[in-house]
Amino acid sequence: MAPGSAAPIDVRLRRTAEADLDFVLALEHHPDQLPFIGQWTRDEHRDAIAREDREHWIIERASDGMSLGYLISYDVRAAGYGIYIKRIALAEKSRGVGRAALRAFIDQRAYAAVGFVDVPLTPAERADITATVDPFPPECLVMRIAR
Ligand SMILES: CC(C)(COP(=O)(O)OP(=O)(O)OC[C@H]1O[C@@H](n2cnc3c(N)ncnc32)[C@H](O)[C@@H]1OP(=O)(O)O)[C@@H](O)C(=O)NCCC(=O)NCCS
Repeated sequence: MAPGSAAPIDVRLRRTAEADLDFVLALEHHPDQLPFIGQWTRDEHRDAIAREDREHWIIERASDGMSLGYLISYDVRAAGYGIYIKRIALAEKSRGVGRAALRAFIDQRAYAAVGFVDVPLTPAERADITATVDPFPPECLVMRIAR
C-alpha cells in the first residue's frame, strides 16, 4: 500500500523462530539487498535470536501473518547507546511498510519499558478477548504486565 494512502498498513512484529530462518536468509541474501545490508549465516541469526541483549523480529502482515521482512536490534543501553537497530529488510519496498514496522517496534519498546510483554494468542483466544472487551484490529498486539 502506498504511503499516504487512506488504507492502514496492517503490520505487526513477532519474535523470529527457527522456522522463519529460511525466509530471513533468502531475503537477506537476495541480490537486491546486497548493496544495503550485511549477510549473516544461519548461525549468526540463531545467535541473535538466542541472546538476551539482541532481538530478532519478523515483520508480518497482520491480517494473514504473511512474512514481509525482518528487523534485528541490539540492546546497548548499558554502554550508553540505547537500542541500536542493526538491520531492517523488506521484500517489497517503498510501500510504507518500513515506517509502519519501525513505529510498531518503537511502540513495543515503550510498553516493554514499563514491564509489558507480548501474549502470543491463537485466533480463537484472540476472538475470545475481542468478544470480552471491544473489537480491535489484527495489527494490535495483546500485552500484559510480566509477573
Ligand atoms: C529501508 C527499508 C526497510 C525501508 O522500508 P520501506 O517500506 O521501503 O520504506 P517506506 O515505504 O516506509 O518509506 C519510508 C521512507 O524511506 C525512504 N525510502 C523508501 N524506499 C526507498 C528507496 N527505494 N530508495 C530511497 N529511499 C527510500 C523514503 O524517504 C521514504 O519516505 P517518503 O515516502 O516520505 O519519501 C526497505 O526499503 C529495505 O528493505 N531496504 C533494503 C535494506 C536496507 O537498506 N535496510 C536499511 C539498512 S539496515
